[in-house]
Amino acid sequence: MSTFHDDGISNPGDNPSFDEVLARARRREFLRGSLAAGVALAGVPLLSSRSLAQTISPAYTRTPRVGFEPVPVSEADALVVPRGYRAEVLIAWGDPITTAAPEFRYDAGNTADEQALQWGMHNDRMHFFPFDEPRFSLSGGTTPSSRRGLLVSNHEYTDDGLLHPDGMRTWTAEKVRKSQAAHGVSVIEVSFDGSAWRVLRASRYARRITAYTPMAVSGPAAGHRLLRTAADPDGARILGTFNNCAHGYTPWGTYLACEENFNGYFVNAGSVSAEQRRYGVGPGAGYRWHEHDERFDAARHPNEPNRFGWVVEIDPFNPGSTPVKRTALGRLKHEGAWVTLAADNRVVVYMGDDERFEYIYKYVSRRPYQPGVRGSEQNLLDDGVLYVARFNDNQVGEWLPLVWGENGLTPENGFADQGEVLVKTRQAADRVGATRMDRPEWIAVNPLTRDVYCTLTNNDRRGSSGQPVTDAANPRAQNVFGHIIRWVEDRQDAGARRFRWELFAQCGDPTLENPARQGNLSGDTFGSPDGLWFDDRGILWVQTDISTSIVSRPAAERGDYRNIGNNQMLAWDPVDGEFKRFLTGPRGCEITGVISTPDLRTLFVNVQHPGEPASERNDPANPTAISSWPFGTRPRSATVVIRKEDGGIIGT
Ligand code: FEO
Ligand code: CA
Ligand code: CA
Ligand code: CA
Repeated sequence: MSTFHDDGISNPGDNPSFDEVLARARRREFLRGSLAAGVALAGVPLLSSRSLAQTISPAYTRTPRVGFEPVPVSEADALVVPRGYRAEVLIAWGDPITTAAPEFRYDAGNTADEQALQWGMHNDRMHFFPFDEPRFSLSGGTTPSSRRGLLVSNHEYTDDGLLHPDGMRTWTAEKVRKSQAAHGVSVIEVSFDGSAWRVLRASRYARRITAYTPMAVSGPAAGHRLLRTAADPDGARILGTFNNCAHGYTPWGTYLACEENFNGYFVNAGSVSAEQRRYGVGPGAGYRWHEHDERFDAARHPNEPNRFGWVVEIDPFNPGSTPVKRTALGRLKHEGAWVTLAADNRVVVYMGDDERFEYIYKYVSRRPYQPGVRGSEQNLLDDGVLYVARFNDNQVGEWLPLVWGENGLTPENGFADQGEVLVKTRQAADRVGATRMDRPEWIAVNPLTRDVYCTLTNNDRRGSSGQPVTDAANPRAQNVFGHIIRWVEDRQDAGARRFRWELFAQCGDPTLENPARQGNLSGDTFGSPDGLWFDDRGILWVQTDISTSIVSRPAAERGDYRNIGNNQMLAWDPVDGEFKRFLTGPRGCEITGVISTPDLRTLFVNVQHPGEPASERNDPANPTAISSWPFGTRPRSATVVIRKEDGGIIGT
């Protein structure tokens, strides 16, 4: 995500946990292993006296190692992968997703209607949904295909300097419509012919969901007075989804699009309410949609912003289905929604609110998911409990319920019902005393050990004048490089109310003299971790998003970032505890979005906003200033397919 999107702080509050935590935290020296005392936690081998990034689980002793030769840091305008690997662009912004769509025009001259049939701009996270194929065994049956499936990707935002032939020099209703059409989600069908992956444009599944696609609303806030507008007096039908960053997927085969920095699309030039301010809705809006689409004028339509900031469930296998905004999962700047199952098969969804000093959440369904029982997934995401995390300084954490009538979530404090608790999720979390984090991004559950990891990408305001001070879980002031935290739930049960946590990695350059900037990484160096994903072997993959205000500059002008290069993807080797750089991206890009086929032999990776200058949206098109990736012309976000030349398992 670019600097344009992450400048604000909407949480000016002062939860007591922070100051309380601070003094005690400094005494604990937890980085040297306060967990090292060998505290046994239901037999979980998480805790170690070694450097945390080197902690090794016995669960890994059977797995193969990370075996590629790491690539060096890069400032090149190129995508670089290790020797023995090949990377090819599968689809890029503007490419047709159906046979009805026209080809991309390199002058960006496609119309709004054409864009609505093409791959959107600035792909962020994606998922591969395999088709079933016959199993070649005596027992018969089917197996998830590694040769054919649906690839579903978000298109987080648009850079309107690039989206139109003359950028934003003129501003018209057609340009607003094209920007809206370039947002949202794409569903494409893809197949592997033995040598290359192709997009099947004649697919009946191919679909675009945009910022104006009609959506249903479910859960406690459906129909709530705070969701009602003049155009939708029932609060039951919302047009579109946008700023979908990372995502989630469910065991029943649906996709969860997550609405992140929705506030940037609204303008309120009049009196801004406390609720709007808490979510960053105010007088500025870089997208300028409100100039030609009045629902984005939050002074005239104060409830319209309340209809965004949700998780949207999409069934990619049913192209005629209506997406559903699942309000029980809360309203925040959702980075993503990571689904796992509790010990009793209740559905658990981990979620981060990506803004400085915001929170980490978890949703637990009321009923269990019953695999194979048709319809058992109905409404599992509608009537469970939303919790928010408190990371206590003693490495114990708690999940605090956001339930109406409890812990001060009452009418006298501004919460009339559970619907209002959810519309005002951030304020509810403030009240119960959650821990303010350094921008929670992706969350990943280790498939072998069940411990949970979360990237805290950075927070340059931590410890600044008037801002929250450091605490045990966010221990660096001016935390420009970010860190990764991990926890293990009690009894390794994702449905538990308590957990134990520790810092997994402090990111940054270990050679810097300033101790506040030094990383403690073992192996290759990186900063601003964002994407985080475990493959089925238990290898942890990390993707970085150092701000374009830094990576668009030459290395000599990058200050403390001078040795880290362009944004990249690394694999953490669980055997030697080292990070190994697998990929470096072109200039000005962010690496985000990663998923493999079930056989682990194809990796899909998203390259987002190559060539993005720091001032992206305010400048008219200057398309080749620092990047012309991938085709030597106007830079285009794209999905890349990576395979080993010998067809082997990625990462070995
Ligand atoms: Fe869109 Fe949190 O990155
Ligand atoms: Ca980011
Ligand atoms: Ca992004
Ligand atoms: Ca992100």
